[in-house]
Amino acid sequence: MTAKLIKGKEIAEQIRAEIKAETDKLAARGIQPGLVTILVGENPASQSYVRAKQKTAHELGFYSVQDDLPADITQEALLAKIDRYNKDAKIHGILVQLPLPKHINENKILYAINPDKDVDGFHPVNVGRMVVGAPAYLPCTPYGIQQMLIRSGVKTEGAEVVVVGRSNIVGKPIANMLLQKAAGANATVTICHTRTKDMASHTRRADILIVAAGVPKAITADMVKPGSVVIDVGVNEMGKTAEGKRILVGDVDFDAVKEVASAITPVPGGVGPMTITMLMLNTLNAASRVKK
Ligand code: GUN
Repeated sequence: MTAKLIKGKEIAEQIRAEIKAETDKLAARGIQPGLVTILVGENPASQSYVRAKQKTAHELGFYSVQDDLPADITQEALLAKIDRYNKDAKIHGILVQLPLPKHINENKILYAINPDKDVDGFHPVNVGRMVVGAPAYLPCTPYGIQQMLIRSGVKTEGAEVVVVGRSNIVGKPIANMLLQKAAGANATVTICHTRTKDMASHTRRADILIVAAGVPKAITADMVKPGSVVIDVGVNEMGKTAEGKRILVGDVDFDAVKEVASAITPVPGGVGPMTITMLMLNTLNAASRVKK
């Protein structure tokens, strides 16, 4: 069997067209969605992610600000920046790119963002709202994964979903979202992590396998149930091409697993473009709530 490709890039383009149409409608009401992305230091991967977020925001007609800060900025100075953006009426969404340098307490920073401007969905108020099934900003990567499943016609209701990875950014939230009593959810969810015994015994039960392990090609063909849907969240850089382009591989051994699964996301062009798009949707929604 050769799996159908779930092309995140195409689904993301579709959603971006919807966002653009809504942005134009908001413009008629005198509202322009505003996003600030804050980057501390010069991590090349983070720089590339933030650049992509800014580019997309520009293309959609958002007001967008890139705030580059030095790696040795103090925690107090960064908190003061966030306070300023919390009060800035032109800014509806605040994103602090992670990871932050070691001398800064990441939670202190994330908790300082006004939950109404928390378009990353990382503030405990939004996490809590998501867990109890209340309206919340959903974290962008899990939100993108759920949209990919829905828009590719993958049935989640009653499905055995196995998530590999328990990060706050992907593993924990996607597991929570897919177990909700809601459309595009209602799954039976298992989370595997670095202390899981016999990982393959779990992954082989999965109708939908979501992998965010951060380990290149961690999932091999023998770990996958025939006919299942495989979502690869991994972005591992394996060096550069002669032209200097990053060579990226996922957490799934794509060439082997595509012969077993019924559908699979590629890397690149799978989950990645969805993450950025959902950030734009969260920002649009934050702007839409503004009373004018
Ligand atoms: N670093 C890796 N993924 C993310 C993300 O979704 N948001 C932020 N702010 N930082 C990240």
